[in-house]
Amino acid sequence: MSVSAPAPLHVPVLLQEVVEHLLLPPSARILDLTLGLGGHAEALLARCDADSRYLGVDRDPEARALARERLGADARISVLACAHEDVWEHPDFLAWKAAWAPEGFDAILADLGVSTLQLKRPERGFSFRDEGPLDMRMDTEHGPTALEWIAAQTDGSLADALYQFGEERASRPIARAILRALAEGRLATTRDLAEAVYTVIPREPAKRKGLSDPATRTFQAVRIAVNGELARLAATLESAAEALRPGGRLAVISFHSLEDRLVKQTLRRLAGIYDGPGRFAPRILPKRLRLIHPGGLAPSEAEAAANPPSRSARLRLAERLP
Ligand SMILES: C[S@@+](CC[C@H](N)C(=O)[O-])C[C@H]1O[C@@H](n2cnc3c(N)ncnc32)[C@H](O)[C@@H]1O
Repeated sequence: MSVSAPAPLHVPVLLQEVVEHLLLPPSARILDLTLGLGGHAEALLARCDADSRYLGVDRDPEARALARERLGADARISVLACAHEDVWEHPDFLAWKAAWAPEGFDAILADLGVSTLQLKRPERGFSFRDEGPLDMRMDTEHGPTALEWIAAQTDGSLADALYQFGEERASRPIARAILRALAEGRLATTRDLAEAVYTVIPREPAKRKGLSDPATRTFQAVRIAVNGELARLAATLESAAEALRPGGRLAVISFHSLEDRLVKQTLRRLAGIYDGPGRFAPRILPKRLRLIHPGGLAPSEAEAAANPPSRSARLRLAERLP
């Protein structure tokens, strides 16, 4: 794929903390489930020796092309086109692992969500701040666009998705407004989707009160639904825990509370901690991981000020037990 317009910079989030907590022994074997533009990869590889190997996975063709441009000269890195939830059975992954990491990985990183590249390119359709087609796919080569996904919804299913993935309290009237706009031929672009939301929650009063843009929750929800972002995240984390060698570490960065809750619950379960109702507590939960900083790590004030998109990020870390 050709990379023409200059790519918006994606500043890797919680970089110091990731580098500090992921252990990078000699001949390190690292799996990056969300390579993006390779910012974390570059910093981690800078601390690895010449015998180390790094496998970067991303479902976005443009991100992969840019990461290759940035890191392609480094013979230690391989890039794989795949969704992280599907990577575990991918023949290229299995072959790479058999060749380079038969004992498991020393470090696995999942920096979830969208990159600045995706958000800032209007033609990708992720942002209500710029006019673009209603696409929102991370993998631009497969799957329905946001518009196609919306067109396949009913009032009820769209409202459920807005509520579940966007925690949008006005989900029902907003779902009706969106599908009305679609039926009347007024839903083709990101602006159209935002305008449909504003017919229910006007933008100006929210702005005057310093609240987030009323379209934020709807855009988050549609994006999560279109990309199936939460659907198989728990399974991916379980597979990641299995793929670590004993003593190896997993780092997961999430950007919104729904995602972080799922990451937290999954890692706690894999650490043998039972969060369900007391009466039914199973006696033994298999204990695969040890949590590091159980409350998670947030960006420092300095990082949040320098890189505002990092503000909502949270890093969760765990180590594979023998
Ligand atoms: C926050 S960015 C990663 C940025 C990267 N750490 C860096 O420093 O440049 C997230 C990346 O994960 C990718 N991604 C999100 N969900 C994915 C999935 N399920 N499978 C594979 N890649 C995914 C996105 O395409 C995006 O490029």
